[in-house]
Amino acid sequence: MCGIVGAVAQRDVAEILVEGLRRLEYRGYDSSGVAVIDNDHNMKRVRRLGKVQELADALEIEQVQGGTGIAHTRWATHGEPSEINAHPHVSEDIAIVHNGIIENHHVLRELLRERGYTFTSQTDTEVIAHLVNWERRSTDTLLQAVQNTVKQLEGAYGAVVVDRNEPERLIVARSGSPIVIGLGVGENFLASDQLALLNVTRRFIYLEEGDVAEVTRREVNVFADNGEPVIRSVVESNAEHDAGDKGEFRHFMQKEVYEQPTAIKNTIEGRVTHDSVITDSIGVHASEILEKVEHIQLVACGTSYNAAMVSRYWFEAIAGVSCSVEIASEFRYRKFVTRPNSLLVTLSQSGETADTLAALRLAKEKGYMSAMTICNVAGSSLVRESDIAFMTRAGTEIGVASTKAFTTQLAALLMMVVAVGKQKGTVDQAKEKEIVQALHALPEQIEAALKTEKEIEALAEDFADKHHTLFLGRGEFYPIAVEASLKLKEISYIHAEAYAAGELKHGPLALIDADMPVVVVAPNNELLEKLKSNIEEVRARGGLLYVFADENAGFVSDETMTVIKMPHVNEITAPIFFTIPMQLLSYYVALIKGTDVDQPRNLAKAVTVE
Ligand code: M6R
Repeated sequence: MCGIVGAVAQRDVAEILVEGLRRLEYRGYDSSGVAVIDNDHNMKRVRRLGKVQELADALEIEQVQGGTGIAHTRWATHGEPSEINAHPHVSEDIAIVHNGIIENHHVLRELLRERGYTFTSQTDTEVIAHLVNWERRSTDTLLQAVQNTVKQLEGAYGAVVVDRNEPERLIVARSGSPIVIGLGVGENFLASDQLALLNVTRRFIYLEEGDVAEVTRREVNVFADNGEPVIRSVVESNAEHDAGDKGEFRHFMQKEVYEQPTAIKNTIEGRVTHDSVITDSIGVHASEILEKVEHIQLVACGTSYNAAMVSRYWFEAIAGVSCSVEIASEFRYRKFVTRPNSLLVTLSQSGETADTLAALRLAKEKGYMSAMTICNVAGSSLVRESDIAFMTRAGTEIGVASTKAFTTQLAALLMMVVAVGKQKGTVDQAKEKEIVQALHALPEQIEAALKTEKEIEALAEDFADKHHTLFLGRGEFYPIAVEASLKLKEISYIHAEAYAAGELKHGPLALIDADMPVVVVAPNNELLEKLKSNIEEVRARGGLLYVFADENAGFVSDETMTVIKMPHVNEITAPIFFTIPMQLLSYYVALIKGTDVDQPRNLAKAVTVE
């Protein structure tokens, strides 16, 4: 989704801005732009449709230079992807970049038209530029103008404003869209994500909701939403510096699939002994909270939601605690009843997903006993606003299609299931040992699953010319099928659906024919025989089956069924294990189709708008 970078320095900042935008490219965007002001108060704006490289080339040709600048990658919400709609937007001497959505932009647009402003774009952002310009006419400082402006905005924004007449000043405002200020020596920076600035600084200030800040070369002054100055703490980041390097891999997604053994090792490290889960490692006061908990409400979006769905089976079957799962965009607008002693758990790779964040904020008002997040990005909004943050340690995930974030979420959830079960007395030592040892075994088992790569690459040929694919699973493998279908549609653009296999005969069976491959996730568990009956239902109707089966499940390939045999693993961690071949399948189908694997069309990595 949209990315922001800003810099104020003695040196030329154009290159810093472009490098920052490159580091945010993985988030998904359709156009980009910069505005740079030099010491003579000249402001140059350059915008381009397409990749950041096009912008970089244009900046070189136009010799854009200056010590103060703002830059943006845009992911269209209001107005088509085009150069005219790309940021920065300008109103005379004012330039602005903005993430988020201004919900009252229609009303403001009319008001500003009456005041004589002309609009050159279809964006909601342009109203902010004109509003700041209007306010600037009657205020002493740019800071005041921005403070007055944000009071009139409804919706979400992370915005940075510059004024050609004040060349060494950036004014930044945050409400609903993250902004981080990067501290340098005699120079300062800002961005929507610290990743953009890791090559220039490691020291960050995270703005809070409603903050407006004035950033110059030597000072950062932050003001809370009541206009009073506030001190926000400085955080040293130890985030990976080189996450942006694909190394020997062709795509980030492929690299991240291969990083899963390490990511899982890192996620469990220090949180489990060889046979038990260290409850306190989940968070301060975790033991007391988990002991009292009577219900767990999980809220998430997309892949994170699918991870939550898997854990619902675990929480109820293993820990004996009732658990509900809801898509954040539904939860936040539903008039729900809060159960007594219910723990809200949000799940998110980015920690910035707008709907999940809104769900957390709502839950805090609605009497949940506590709010926990399982998240991959330290310092993200979800982490900062939750009572407990249980971090997955997947490392930076660049590919839009979530892979290692998903499997590490599952590992974290499974540790939490054990911790809850221990506190409640529903998980005994033997069960705990079994699960912990299964977690320890996972990295090596995933290495083995990755070895099916060649077989799956060959199989992908069968899918690449199809328009639809059906994924089936039962129990906790149903959400694994859902996740597999999400991966396939997301990066190969093939329509894919997932069904709980027992639900087939209630409708989807009508779709079965030779043009609709049916992928089945078939572990060797208590539902195997039921699953085999469902497979027969497909076979009897001329369906083409691809069964990813436990080696002991007794499947044999024939002309209507291709069996991909997977090594046997513990039943409880099997959903994590079976995810790997599904990821590989979608990756190889996408390769054949020639799609943009890491930045699939229309999608963004961090969905910071509703
Ligand atoms: O950062 P989050 O985990 O909150 O993101 C939620 C979804 O947007 C995300 O999982 C999305 O579904 C993935 N791109 C799917 O691969």
